[in-house]
Amino acid sequence: MDSVLVIDFGGQYSQLIARRIRELRVFSELIPYDTDVEEIKKKNPKGFVFSGSPHSVIANGGKAPSVDKKYLELGIPILGICYGMQLMAKLTGGEITGTGSNEYGKTGIDLELQSPLFGGLKQKETCWMSHKDSVGCLPEGFKVIASTPNLPVAGIEEPLKKFYGIQFHPEVVHTPSGMDILGNFLFDICGCIPNWTMVSIIESETEKIAKTVGDGKVICGLSGGVDSSVAALLVHKAVGDKLTCIFVDHGLLRKDEAKQVTETFRENFKINLIHINAGDRFLKKLRGVSDPEKKRKIIGEEFIRIFEEEALKIKDADYLVQGTLYSDVIESGTRDAAKIKSHHNVGGLPEDMKLKLIEPLRLLFKDEIRKLGIELGLSDDIVWRQPFPGPGLAIRIIGDITAEKIKILQEADSIVIEEIKRAGLYKKIWQSFAILPSIKSVGVMGDERTYAYPIAIRAVSSLDAMTADWVRLPYKVLERLSGRIINEVDGVNRVVYDISSKPPSTIEWE
Ligand code: XMP
Repeated sequence: MDSVLVIDFGGQYSQLIARRIRELRVFSELIPYDTDVEEIKKKNPKGFVFSGSPHSVIANGGKAPSVDKKYLELGIPILGICYGMQLMAKLTGGEITGTGSNEYGKTGIDLELQSPLFGGLKQKETCWMSHKDSVGCLPEGFKVIASTPNLPVAGIEEPLKKFYGIQFHPEVVHTPSGMDILGNFLFDICGCIPNWTMVSIIESETEKIAKTVGDGKVICGLSGGVDSSVAALLVHKAVGDKLTCIFVDHGLLRKDEAKQVTETFRENFKINLIHINAGDRFLKKLRGVSDPEKKRKIIGEEFIRIFEEEALKIKDADYLVQGTLYSDVIESGTRDAAKIKSHHNVGGLPEDMKLKLIEPLRLLFKDEIRKLGIELGLSDDIVWRQPFPGPGLAIRIIGDITAEKIKILQEADSIVIEEIKRAGLYKKIWQSFAILPSIKSVGVMGDERTYAYPIAIRAVSSLDAMTADWVRLPYKVLERLSGRIINEVDGVNRVVYDISSKPPSTIEWE
């Protein structure tokens, strides 16, 4: 499998570059700029992309992030983008100068069409610039291949070494021909073959997992979310019955979710699945607890305890599947440490079990995991499920938790999901759900006075859950939601819509 490495200098678009390359069906990884060149050689890349950076090549007394010069002596083609172009120019003997002002936004650009980087493009294109410094003096052997009215050196090439640089960003949508430029680099300059497809990922991953596991036994914690589901399916494809999935059902899932998980995995996929129906056990532990952090702690600890009990029953287990994603790997900032997440991990598993980790999704972005899920035959419902917190409805019932409140919230929430789907909004919204605050208010139904719970609806747009905005749901949708929830859910007489963004609010109410 051909790969092109994005050497990351901390640019805001570094991840996006890797994703774009993958969209062109060439495998790409993000590599911290200070990675030892020997590590790089082992990966046998067909090309490098040097990313952008918030730093300046000429500021900080030369302490800006750089790479070992040996990177440039490997005979591997390089595409430097923005800071990456300036760094490449500096390391090969060019000079970088400050332009004195920022150039930011869409710009018309003149391209030298003789360059293989611009094959198939028009001589005048539009591109997206975001920079302060520029290449003032070209290194030996380089020539200019792009310019704008403000920037005489907007693109450079050294055709013998196959070093290319562009001051603009081909990875963003505001550069309409950006994908063509990246494609030219991958296919015409690096000679990559576009063979990184979902089918090839499944083949290579299952082969790898089967080889690793051999005659061993594997355990997988299944939550019903897309990550653990895809991880389980992939491992099952590789090792079949040597895999046992453990589904700890805390009784705080969405309506019918537990049924759907057991049916999907047991009946459709014929996977060994242990379903621990522990709703009562969790409810007992949570009785009278209102503090959100206490709820989380109780649920987290109980979850681990149950998982541990069940895992220990599987004699001679050797491996544990963990659904670590590529974004977790990148975020953790270390090259090999798997970021262990909340209570879905098994941090609490006894040391003496000595389980080794299998992380089949470690190199994949979320959208790729969804595509993989579809390829593996997972239903749209699971593949496109919105994120759901580990403690489940416990942190959407404000105040103490009772079986009655769980039932009310599940019913109301299922109406929210149904109506948001009916409006064609489910995949476009980051999260949309119902909340049950433990207060009662007065209403009137028929001729009767009611005294019942309100339901709050929350729908947010977000890219990463770090910040979020409330979704401007159409009044028609809100009207249907309110009408249906009040009429169909016993114990509810009022519906309100949460119009707070994050910050200063959070997505969940607890
Ligand atoms: P907040 O409420 O902090 O949520 O804005 C950000 C994202 O995290 C999810 N969330 C959790 N996920 N355990 C989880 O696994 C938790 O305790 C938890 N609390 C919040 C939330 O659904 C949102 O996607």
